[in-house]
Amino acid sequence: MTDSPPADAPTAESAQATRPYSPGLEGVIAGETSLSFVDGDRGRLTYRGYRIGDLVERGTYPAIANLLWTGDWAPDHRIATAPIPDAVLTVLRALPAETKPMDALRTAVSAWGATQDLPWPPTVEQARALLAFSPSALAAFARLRAGEPPVEPDPSLDLVEGFLYQLNGTRPDPATARALDAYFIVGAEHGFNASTFTSRVVISTRSDIASAVVGAIGTMKGPLHGGAPSEVVDQLSQVGSAEHAEAWVREALARGERLMGFGHRVYRAYDPRAAALRTVAEGMANKPAWLQLAIEVEDVALRVLAEKHPDRPLKTNVEFYAAPVLMGVGLAPDLFPATFSLARHAGWTAHALEQSANNRLIRPDVNYVGPAERDLPA
Ligand code: ACO
Repeated sequence: MTDSPPADAPTAESAQATRPYSPGLEGVIAGETSLSFVDGDRGRLTYRGYRIGDLVERGTYPAIANLLWTGDWAPDHRIATAPIPDAVLTVLRALPAETKPMDALRTAVSAWGATQDLPWPPTVEQARALLAFSPSALAAFARLRAGEPPVEPDPSLDLVEGFLYQLNGTRPDPATARALDAYFIVGAEHGFNASTFTSRVVISTRSDIASAVVGAIGTMKGPLHGGAPSEVVDQLSQVGSAEHAEAWVREALARGERLMGFGHRVYRAYDPRAAALRTVAEGMANKPAWLQLAIEVEDVALRVLAEKHPDRPLKTNVEFYAAPVLMGVGLAPDLFPATFSLARHAGWTAHALEQSANNRLIRPDVNYVGPAERDLPA
């Protein structure tokens, strides 16, 4: 028999009520990282201390992935896309053509994981193999759904160029490949965003790197995280012309809608990735016709959002200028979220390595707000 607690002892409910709780974990420090620093107040982003603008100018996506995994700056580091295991190709062929690309990518990574030996802890080699596989899988799915055969990887091409080659069946021109590479660099890593946190939670259970990335893709699928650039395209086509921008923005906000490509959980200043991508978009040979419209809508949206939310700075986020870059390289809008996921593979896998190197099972607590203990109805 156990002793009853004294009448004035704190109950489990009262003890937890005194502990801090932040909905959505906003502002909660949930770990430590040396991979990236997101300075939301000043609108700055660094990967291992290097400024994002400098990395876009002087790096390539494989060099940035390697930097995140190892801490070493090797600008000539190359990674070619990898062949797709037969079992994965069989799975991709079985998917209905109307499958959402994010679902196809998530399924492909899951099937890939089933074909690999991925012991814990995850390694740089595992991360590199997965990073090299996924662009081939997404490209193959995009071709299969259009009734075209997948294209074998060309090992002479670097990752992003290879992805475009396998998608279109022709080698991209260098400027197009460079623009998409810049997008991959700015999308590579971003602190404890929801999908990265998911990757760390999965790996913290000593699960494998493919499962971590499957979970991360599922998390990124939601429009509050990774689904915005194609919705930016939709919203801009609804706006139609610069003269209608103000009326459209005000009506959308009055309907309680969110303006896609604005606002961020961390940034209170202009997202430095949006600034880097705006420069890339403006320099592209194949700018979408509505880039100018986007620039004008952005001005109106920032002004109206500041008026409606004077206490909550809502600025342009990365997705707004991701849209023209992705359109400019010729990607179908429904491939945008999955392409963002390809870019974020570097961060997801780097966080998996970092988490496993100093692992502690991630298992937070929850406030119980249900009924007090009671008897079942008679
Ligand atoms: N348009 C209009 N109002 C907005 C927007 C927006 N884009 N973003 C936030 N707000 C408003 C909210 O309605 C809320 O108003 P309220 O206090 O009157 O209810 C206030 O600003 C605060 O918003 P929160 O939801 O608390 O901000 P949170 O940090 O949770 O959300 C998020 C961040 C999800 C990115 C949000 O700004 C949003 O929905 N933006 C649009 C979607 C988008 O661009 N997503 C891509 C994000 S970038 C990325 O994931 C890589």
